[in-house]
Amino acid sequence: MDKAVLAYSGGLDTSVAIKWLKEKYNLEIITLTVDIGNVADLEAIRQKALNMGAIKALVIDAREPFINSFVFPALQADAVYEGQYPLATALGRPLIAQLLVDTAKKEGATAVAHGCTGKGNDQVRLDVGVAALAPKLKVIAPAREWNMTREQTITYAQSHNIPIPITLSSPYSIDENLWGRSAECGVLEDPWNEPPKDAFMWTKSPEETPNQPDYVELGFDKGIPVSLNGKKFAGVTLIQKIHELACEHGIGRIDHIENRLVGIKSREIYEAPAATVLLQAHQALEGLVLTKEQLRFKSKVASEYADLTYNGLWFSGLRQDLAAYVESSQRYVTGVVKVKLYKGNCQIVGRKSPYSLYDFSLATYDKGDTFDQSASPGFIHIWGLPVRTQARVQSARK
Ligand code: ARG
Repeated sequence: MDKAVLAYSGGLDTSVAIKWLKEKYNLEIITLTVDIGNVADLEAIRQKALNMGAIKALVIDAREPFINSFVFPALQADAVYEGQYPLATALGRPLIAQLLVDTAKKEGATAVAHGCTGKGNDQVRLDVGVAALAPKLKVIAPAREWNMTREQTITYAQSHNIPIPITLSSPYSIDENLWGRSAECGVLEDPWNEPPKDAFMWTKSPEETPNQPDYVELGFDKGIPVSLNGKKFAGVTLIQKIHELACEHGIGRIDHIENRLVGIKSREIYEAPAATVLLQAHQALEGLVLTKEQLRFKSKVASEYADLTYNGLWFSGLRQDLAAYVESSQRYVTGVVKVKLYKGNCQIVGRKSPYSLYDFSLATYDKGDTFDQSASPGFIHIWGLPVRTQARVQSARK
């Protein structure tokens, strides 16, 4: 019998998929559960896969490669989709695609499978990711093929002795990892509805946060966060620590009307506590050490980088090229940023760097000023030349 590796979350759809792939395609299923910082009980998921008839159930702790090879490069790029979404789910998918491919090779499987529907971005990211890394490997997406409603999936599960998870009582479709949490569906589908309390599982609501702010100092080395309040931590631990602080202060709630690649506008609720703090801090440090021109250009790169990531083109040549530019741009992004966390807000209140371009003697209005003000009229004379020329022959007022 041929084998397929199924990306397995332990949820209803992927549990049904184990049976369905066997029935429909006569495949033996190896499940692969990738841990990129989702909170679920991994051993329980593994057991469940075996109970459902998987011949093997693998769990891979991929938190480190997730942070170091996907999240940090995106942070260095300041990648945020449509100015709002820090791309947690979108960054996880190419890594899952990569691990599906590696596992298929190791296990001698002829196909890989995932639980995405045909309406979202995730199918694109996984399909294109697999295609980039193993062009000949077959990808099966049961939920995209079977076209069952939620009700029908439940009926199928009941008739095949698949336990219906209690999480089904959660009215949302959820995806979680270290960089953020995505929620969609249910009452959120009406963009006029304020997200109910239960749409947020990580962050405190600003009404419930402490009345005292927390100040934290974040250290960066070449655009990579490396320390918290002067203490060094590896990436995963550092993100977990910032996560806890930011959750406590209700930071990182995002309500986004988002443009999906497949043409649908959808309403998404995100929690991205660590991402929100780190992205702001990183940009604040860049503001100090990059020139005006570098900053202007980099913001264009950031939006392109975010689009490529969102649209499933992580493994494309252009993303690689942009990543090379981004890396080069980070060579002086080293220093410390002081952040105030308070009532849902993350405020930058200080920044310093050995490579700072901020020159006190140029900026000051006090003594010690070295700026030659007598040079300004000449500069302005030439700067304003085209405007004066234009105003002589065309109207300057509208
Ligand atoms: N809209 C977001 C994205 O495309 C989040 C998707 C969440 N996925 C999920 N299966 N709930 O990246």
